[in-house]
Amino acid sequence: MTTASAPGKIILFGEHAVVSGAAALGGAIDLRASVSVQDRPGGIVITTEDLMLKGFSIDLQSGQLFSSQAAHAVRYISAVLQEFDAHDIEVRIKSSLPASAGLGSSAAIVVSAVMAISRHQGSSLSLKKIADLSFRLEREVQDGLASPTDTALATYGGHLRISREISPCNLPPLELVVGYTGVPHSTRSEVEKVQKLKKRYPELIDGIFQAIGSISDRAQPLMADQNKAELGELMNINHGLLEAIGVGSRELCELVYASRGAGGAMGAKITGAGGGGCMIAIPGPAGKEPLMTAIRQAGGRPFATKTGQEGVRLEREA
Ligand code: PMV
Repeated sequence: MTTASAPGKIILFGEHAVVSGAAALGGAIDLRASVSVQDRPGGIVITTEDLMLKGFSIDLQSGQLFSSQAAHAVRYISAVLQEFDAHDIEVRIKSSLPASAGLGSSAAIVVSAVMAISRHQGSSLSLKKIADLSFRLEREVQDGLASPTDTALATYGGHLRISREISPCNLPPLELVVGYTGVPHSTRSEVEKVQKLKKRYPELIDGIFQAIGSISDRAQPLMADQNKAELGELMNINHGLLEAIGVGSRELCELVYASRGAGGAMGAKITGAGGGGCMIAIPGPAGKEPLMTAIRQAGGRPFATKTGQEGVRLEREA
């Protein structure tokens, strides 16, 4: 059996603007997905575990259970299997990342699958090849609406600045609290919505994207200095700009305001495509406990994480 795992990610600054070429800054987190492959003569079997079976349906004739989260993962795996012309194989997916939540679960699955399947077939791809191929496959499944942010972070780990190019940033880890609204989102439809708005109001949205890109660039030296007060301020500004382009939601805003209020956060914003999914906050002087409590009381599911974690790695090779 060959197993590879890859991290999820958090976009600290720059989501949506990055799709149109502005800068984003993101970091890999300590939740991971893993993909194991082994020979299985006579067919292709894909098994999913730990994928938080939310939104399932059942076929009453066959008794088969379909989970929308699992179906989501299977679409990405099928694309990788097709790319490698893989047959007679069993693929097992495990993930501690909630799907469709803005934490890069599909990218972590694609990147792990590319490494595991290529190694199983006897080839050793460079990280650059894994990142490029994973981006192409993820973009195909999402009908062209994706930037390389998630697949690059899942591959290289650490922190990356993404615009027209991907550059590693040597930055210390940032401690954050993530609040999951429990509402899954579709990256594809949020990106489509924003891009349509951009077509209707190009001069307005271009200006907003430019401002978001400047925030990403201002944030880098602040990250290096661990200047949490100013990073928090930039998060608040970035959140307002994301609201302006229509990717906020009542649930996200409640978590953001609870974090800044009772939670004592230095700043808080949506992370990822928005419309649901997650927000992030920088803990204030009182630490992460009051922040996690405030998020929980506002109806969210909080967890603490640190950015800058390791990228894709081989866990096991038989
Ligand atoms: O899939 P998510 O929710 O992590 O969103 C990714 C960030 C976007 O900028 C909205 C899309 C992209 O591909 O960069």
